Amino acid sequence: MSFSVAAVRGQFPILSQIIDGRPVHYLDNGASSQTPDTVLNAVRAYETTGRANVLRGVRHLVLADREASEERADVAKFLGVPPMEIVFTGGCTAAINLVAYSYGSLLQPGDRVLLSELEHHSNIVPWQLLRARAGIEIDMIPVTADGRIDLALLPRLLTPKTKLVSLAHVSNVTGAMVDVGAVVAAAKSVGAKVMLDGAQRAPHGPLDLPALGIDFYVFAGHKAYGPNGVGVLWAKAALLDAMPPFMGGGSMIGRVTFAETTWAPAPRRFEAGTPPIGPAIGLGAACKWMQALDWTGAHAHEMAMVQHLMDGLQKIDGARIFGPAGLQNRYPVVSFTLDGVHPHDVAQTLDSFGVAVRAGHHCAQPLMDRFDLDGTTRVSMAPYNDGSDIDAFLSGVRYAAKTLR
Ligand code: ALA
Repeated sequence: MSFSVAAVRGQFPILSQIIDGRPVHYLDNGASSQTPDTVLNAVRAYETTGRANVLRGVRHLVLADREASEERADVAKFLGVPPMEIVFTGGCTAAINLVAYSYGSLLQPGDRVLLSELEHHSNIVPWQLLRARAGIEIDMIPVTADGRIDLALLPRLLTPKTKLVSLAHVSNVTGAMVDVGAVVAAAKSVGAKVMLDGAQRAPHGPLDLPALGIDFYVFAGHKAYGPNGVGVLWAKAALLDAMPPFMGGGSMIGRVTFAETTWAPAPRRFEAGTPPIGPAIGLGAACKWMQALDWTGAHAHEMAMVQHLMDGLQKIDGARIFGPAGLQNRYPVVSFTLDGVHPHDVAQTLDSFGVAVRAGHHCAQPLMDRFDLDGTTRVSMAPYNDGSDIDAFLSGVRYAAKTLR
């Protein structure tokens, strides 16, 4: 079906609310997206007609077991990979920590992990914990003036000791998408694995991970139109097979005795305890929902909104966009500052216009340090946003520029 923003927006009940006499202009999708009826219905069906634990008995209430295997297949289809390569985690951060702990335990002191200056803290701190635990080294690719990972510097930062390159697929601050082909080619030349943090990319359409040539991919359910409390790690089967468990408990075992325990094969080896069943069912429904959307139309719509927003900001005295000026290789995340006004004050003013955005360091303090910024105000869009959201946003920023300095 061809793309219609009105039809898409109509599927998100939260967006039809009127709060304090104003419509909802939700432009904080990078922090958390909204959830369509189809996802809410799937979770409600589980909770009201099929709620039970999974893989733990024979029972009349079968929805949990049935859906639990179907949703793994739905997520796998969305990523273009086999279902048994999908590990459900508690979120994107949990997925990165899993890799840092488990794959990290295969690294030797002196091995190196290469990150970038624009990473979210969730793709920095787990590696620092590994450094403290295992004596690895961390290297960092600087960013360009327009907020992209500076891949020109990549060859000289890679060494035979580099075992993993772990980067944001799309920056949660600048919206810039990394050139995955260039990263993979360079990383493979020294035998390093590649992980992409897909938190900001997955909400913008299906992926073909095998074609990217990467080794690990992670994303969060709540940013991809699904529930909170669930995330995904994808890794090639051979890698998962070689990795030891991260957490121990029920479900992840083969046989337990006090003398010794054997592990279940992946993905169950990495899913100790009762998994987030309802959230995972919702995430499967969200992946199906995304799979059915016309992304050629949706992406064109998103880029038209970015252009509209950047054109409007450029006309406001003292507004500075932080990130790529053009539409090439970028996603609909736009950060900006307003001279003489704190980013939180801009966000507060926007809130009074019914516009939700995020302000602050965006969990990317090293990037803020690089540009000597306290923070930015950030707009992050989804296919259900429309021109009225952008117009309300621009009115709010114009008002802030006029009244706050
Ligand atoms: N990682 C989320 C963001 O960028 C919370 O807003």
